[in-house]
Amino acid sequence: MQNIEDTRKDLLARIEASDSPRDLLKGPELKQLFDVIKTLAPEERGAYGKQVNELRIALESAISDRESGVEDKAVEPIDVTAPWDVNASNIGLLPTQQGTQHPLTLELENVINIFTRMGFDAIESRQIDDDDHMFGTLNFPENHPARDGYDTFRTEEGFIPPAHTSTMQHRILKAGKAQLEAGGQIAAVSYGRVFRNEDVDATHEHTFYQCEGVFVSRDATLGQMLGTLRDFFETYYGQKLKIKTQPAYFPFVEPGLEFAIERPAALGGKDGEWLEMLGCGMIHPNVLQAADIDPAKYRGFAWGGGIERLVMLKYGIEDLRHFESGKLQFLRKFL
Ligand code: DAH
Repeated sequence: MQNIEDTRKDLLARIEASDSPRDLLKGPELKQLFDVIKTLAPEERGAYGKQVNELRIALESAISDRESGVEDKAVEPIDVTAPWDVNASNIGLLPTQQGTQHPLTLELENVINIFTRMGFDAIESRQIDDDDHMFGTLNFPENHPARDGYDTFRTEEGFIPPAHTSTMQHRILKAGKAQLEAGGQIAAVSYGRVFRNEDVDATHEHTFYQCEGVFVSRDATLGQMLGTLRDFFETYYGQKLKIKTQPAYFPFVEPGLEFAIERPAALGGKDGEWLEMLGCGMIHPNVLQAADIDPAKYRGFAWGGGIERLVMLKYGIEDLRHFESGKLQFLRKFL
């Protein structure tokens, strides 16, 4: 057995050094090992023969690697700080200019730019929060069935990876109170990742993006809200749009509405095809009160909706799962 190991070391070293490594397979070393088989007791031949055969396979594989110029990558560490040089190596670090931001990041930036140009502050939404911000300060009573609609995950400690960006509303209101009382307004959007315990299919993901808007002043109206939203959608899609609303229930607004646009002909729409884009409404007095803003003096509106839906309509993407698939074929369409 010792002999097999010695032969392995010897031949592997010579395969590395030789210009015609394949000849080594026909040399005396391997032959000698096979010749030993005949001299062994019959019950020993099987195990021994198997080892010699494995050695032959290992040598053949080393020879093939050598012939195709493949180096043993394990011994050549990749220097991730090295500048890209196309001629330098076969390691293949991707030059940075071949990378790009994810389509959702790009589109989210686009959305935020539209709102900041209208005068809204932009605040990134948190990715871990608590019951009070997710529900309590948003006028969801304890044990109210509306909580069930949000399919929230919870950590063992009771924290919540937020299921909507509305989780930022209470913070925005508290932070803006002084400005409001000094005669100004609160105008902010919060954007980011949200999480729901959903079964994943073409229109549902457990992780997705939302953008939320909050506006408060002495005399905010529903009409202002509809104007703001129409402006946003027409800018984002670069064309005039028909809009409509219908009543909907969200505990944090009264009245609450669903806001829909008619699918534009340029985006494959036929007349009368309405797409629900987001939820919105006038901020419920209890939500203002929770942030110590007097609902008798100030009024506000808020809205919130998903980013993927916007982007899917814009580019005619039919399956939400493409976004997180990491498929280059999909991502390259956005280069
Ligand atoms: N947070 C709601 C959701 O994720 C959407 C929403 C509805 C946000 C109405 C709002 C609003 O700000 O006023 O389903």
